[in-house]
Amino acid sequence: MTGVISPPKETEQVVGKPINRVDGRLKVMGAARYAAEIPQDNIAHAVLIQSTIAKGRIKDIDTSEAETAPGVLAVITHRNAPKLNLKTDGSMVEGKPGEDFVPLQSDEVFYDGQHIGVVVAETFEQAKHAVSLVRVSYEEEKPTVEIEQGLSKAYQPKQFFGEELQVQRGDVAKAIAEAEVKIEQTYTTPIEHHNPMESSASIAVWNGNQLTVYDATQWVIGTRNIVAYTLGIPNENVRIISHFVGGGFGCKGYTWWHTILAAVAARLVGRPVKLVVTRQQMFSSCGHRSPTIQQLTLSATRDGKLTAIRHVTTSQTSEVDECVEPCGLTTRLLYACPNLEVTHNLVRVNTGTPTAMRAPGEAPGTFALESALDELAYELGIDPVELRIINHADVNPQTGNPWSSKYLKECYQKGAERFGWSRRNPTPSSMRNGDYLIGWGMATATYPGYRSPASAKAQLFADGRAVVSSATHDLGTGTYTIMTQIAADALGLPVERIEFKLGESSMPLAPVAGGSQSAASVAPAVQGAAEELRNRVIRLAIDDESSPLYRAAQERISTENGRVFLKNEPSRGETYAEILQRNNLPMVEVEAIANTAASESQQNSDNKVVRICVGKNENSDWQQYAFQSFGAQFAEVRVHPRLGQVHVTRFVSAIDVGRVLNHKTARSQVLGGVTMGLGMALMEETVLDQQSGRLVVRNLADYHVPVHADIGDIDVIFIDKPDPHISRMGVRGVGEIGITGVAAAVANAIYHATGKRIRELPITPDKLL
Ligand code: MOS
Repeated sequence: MTGVISPPKETEQVVGKPINRVDGRLKVMGAARYAAEIPQDNIAHAVLIQSTIAKGRIKDIDTSEAETAPGVLAVITHRNAPKLNLKTDGSMVEGKPGEDFVPLQSDEVFYDGQHIGVVVAETFEQAKHAVSLVRVSYEEEKPTVEIEQGLSKAYQPKQFFGEELQVQRGDVAKAIAEAEVKIEQTYTTPIEHHNPMESSASIAVWNGNQLTVYDATQWVIGTRNIVAYTLGIPNENVRIISHFVGGGFGCKGYTWWHTILAAVAARLVGRPVKLVVTRQQMFSSCGHRSPTIQQLTLSATRDGKLTAIRHVTTSQTSEVDECVEPCGLTTRLLYACPNLEVTHNLVRVNTGTPTAMRAPGEAPGTFALESALDELAYELGIDPVELRIINHADVNPQTGNPWSSKYLKECYQKGAERFGWSRRNPTPSSMRNGDYLIGWGMATATYPGYRSPASAKAQLFADGRAVVSSATHDLGTGTYTIMTQIAADALGLPVERIEFKLGESSMPLAPVAGGSQSAASVAPAVQGAAEELRNRVIRLAIDDESSPLYRAAQERISTENGRVFLKNEPSRGETYAEILQRNNLPMVEVEAIANTAASESQQNSDNKVVRICVGKNENSDWQQYAFQSFGAQFAEVRVHPRLGQVHVTRFVSAIDVGRVLNHKTARSQVLGGVTMGLGMALMEETVLDQQSGRLVVRNLADYHVPVHADIGDIDVIFIDKPDPHISRMGVRGVGEIGITGVAAAVANAIYHATGKRIRELPITPDKLL
């Protein structure tokens, strides 16, 4: 164990400050290049051909006219596509295809919009035109379109990322039979699509047997592994680059087949190929959130103590793969309740495979549970905030484990105070503003605090600048900025002299930017690498006769602004640049691996590269803790009594995600989550034709997402207390919690405004008339 010098605490820390995005200037100047914008010489354009039936077979696919159309280089269908490998073990460490079904390998069709071919041409327009010339005839079968149609064939899936989906504790039937008060209702949510601003896109470039893919992805390492596996080439031959991503929300978490088809097309035509998934194609090509039917039963004592919760979720998956919307998982742990039964059913329908969408499970699950809690509050005549405090879970009720940190009561209190909750008259339709009915509603927010192994490399150059890198991602979330802040504090360098690099599969390993885990996972690695790098530079000075710090005691040394000096004699010191230059070192480099297991430093003797391991928390047996973020959502709605129009005029979101690394970027994450939750509550719904199973809604004119005019004032409060067990940084993620509880808070506010309880999302005006 080498001497670890603590970071320069006496100097002002950048972490926690609301500094501007370090990539903000590039973005506003249009200089930040997204996947489809990377220039390539001699590029060809690919356009996907998609099925126009939801179930059946391709009888004939006539490509002759398309093949001779101007500019066309290739038409690929199941008749001439190369064989591709399918990886079906679904493990998160290795990467996963979005759908365990290889397109273009047979004539079978399982859903509308399934890829059935690719046209490659000189220009995008020529490829698009040629697609219109491909004539497909089908043997069509009757598809299963809705969950209800497939209910008789429903089955119970086993697990969701290692979590059991069928859970029981206590005796629910008995508790419900003996209940003093009972709520039993069914809540439904529709198909939703992620619709990031940047649609998915890949540019594939072959150089001999080396493949580079510029991709819009939340997981460069996973994409590298899946692309290599499906094409049957070694991982080392594939490089994935994704420097900027225009939102993902889960639809870029797995590797979808368009990326692999771009690589296939590029190999076939011997040129770089760009494949952009069009907005319309995004509705069938990159997953969606499954609709849900949720039956909720709550039983309680007259004084508000929950005695039983039963939560039965039915969601849908495709005919070719399994994906569960795990609504009941949160229900296991949100409230102290001795008797619980959580069930998940799955029905196969003829749609593309659903996928994780921002807070999968928690977003629709909290709509049902938190609506039911509100119904119970009215049944009991207890204030909704009070009812939740009565049932506060002091430990994880499912496992009995203590929370790593939990400030939910503070969230209720601070949120209620900011919102003015104490002035609420609970009687429905009692608050008005002119013609409008005013309603106030609230709900609990929650999301797990995930953390996975990650690594980072820190390099200091002889000109005094540092480069820190990790194969992580910035989906607009602020990763570039917060990692730069962490490195600045740990290195004792100003933000301007640090460049944080991400989004390349050749960089040190980092997990998928999913499960809100990037900050929690990558921050300790960046901190570990940067601190060790600083320590090595200090040691260079201490061991060097020509240094003014020769033989100085480590504990007397401080660093600031790229300079090492004695704390009590700041004039005695020198800059990092001087130390490296005198030692003829162009660069010093450290790589850190932040494991989730106990820490163990493994330093090799190589002078240039040192690998260190940074544990989950050096002082904590983390396995005994339950890591979970919590929050409280408060909504004010204004409802027009005759038009049924709902406007959310005010929203307060009080959130505990551990330590906040940057209040500006973290607040933006919650603003985005709440906004998406408002869309979920009031607008978002993908509709299929009941007969044909074809998508009726497949553009942003029909799929409504909130615009500026739809959004009122959103106030975000952070508790900002470090989680003492997740890592030394104390940070849990903030990407997904913002959407949870929002739809319920709005539905509860609408009930308060109108006396109408809407249990079916989205709450469109027709449902209020
Ligand atoms: Mo998120 S749905 O885990 O990308």
